[in-house]
Amino acid sequence: MISEKTTQILPECVALRRLLHENAELSFEEYKTTEILMERLSAISGLTFYRPCRTGVIATLQGAFPGPVIAIRADIDALPITEENDLPFRSKNPGAMHACGHDGHTAMLLAAAKILAGEADKLHGTVKFIFQHAEELPPGGAEELVKAGVLADVDEVYGLHLSSLYPTGHFGIRPGALTSATDRFDIVIKGKGGHSAYPEGCIDPIVIAGQVITSLQTLVSRQISATEPAVVSICQLSAGTAYNIIPGEVKITGSTRTFNPKTREVLPKKMEAIVKGACDAYGASYEFTFSLGYASVINDEKLTAWARNLVVSTFGEERVFAIGPLMPGEDFAAMSAIRPGFFVELGAGTAPDCNVPHHNARYRMDEDALAYGIEYFCQLVRTRLSV
Ligand code: NI
Repeated sequence: MISEKTTQILPECVALRRLLHENAELSFEEYKTTEILMERLSAISGLTFYRPCRTGVIATLQGAFPGPVIAIRADIDALPITEENDLPFRSKNPGAMHACGHDGHTAMLLAAAKILAGEADKLHGTVKFIFQHAEELPPGGAEELVKAGVLADVDEVYGLHLSSLYPTGHFGIRPGALTSATDRFDIVIKGKGGHSAYPEGCIDPIVIAGQVITSLQTLVSRQISATEPAVVSICQLSAGTAYNIIPGEVKITGSTRTFNPKTREVLPKKMEAIVKGACDAYGASYEFTFSLGYASVINDEKLTAWARNLVVSTFGEERVFAIGPLMPGEDFAAMSAIRPGFFVELGAGTAPDCNVPHHNARYRMDEDALAYGIEYFCQLVRTRLSV
């Protein structure tokens, strides 16, 4: 259940979440957010903190006794969206909105840090509170922090995402691969432009692009096992300047989502083979670029089982449910790739108008979820860093 300490700190947590919401900042530009966090952290005795990158901040709480080092990460960035909610704390920065709930993640972690700082005399080990910048923009802040050595001394790493898909205060748990690998492809088909009346003298890249687009859609349905989730989406297409000119080239851009590393490896090869085949047939040439984005978040099996028990004993069996693989990406993957990690989804979709999808200009958070997140973080640390 929700403890007295959490209930007491909740109004402060909600106020901080709203302050961050109002001051939403884009990935790699979270200067004001970082300033607010450092000001709050400096008011908590027992914490030390530093900035390994331009934005974001890492706070450390040393327990009274020796023990493992565990890290909890919250992301702090907003999205390039102009908020359409009519709220008193609506984003005052046009083109920047906390439309994914990272303001909530940050506020919950800070509240947990404050509670736990008062319990350092009981902790066997160390907690690193990672307020991470730039989750939303590859290559992402998580990878930067890993490169800066933030996890060098860490034994386990934990993360959480609020979700409007699930009822408030319910925890979605999945062992193994949780989120998809999210990669990008760019294709340029180079033909030969000319007069629309004389196609025989041209190499029409639009017709070739049409075949490429249709054929790419057969990869998932015909060449990848039905048991392996995968998506190929073409999201940008550009060509041409006038109604009577066959253009010289067509640009196609899109993204793929995969879970199995083998599928991730083989997919670009199969995609290029389709592009090459279509171009060869008509005498066109092409450029094919495949850029790796975030890998899958991998939930360590042992930590997942442990965390599931923790959630059950804290909130009750009825608060836990199993979730399937999630198609969105999450740069926590850079952390779970090098340390045993566990990432949980916390429902925040119950209150009116709070079931709007994330990344939408009308996304809203059910703030009742915040108490569950604070309690979860605190219980995680108390239990993991007990004797
Ligand atoms: Ni997010």
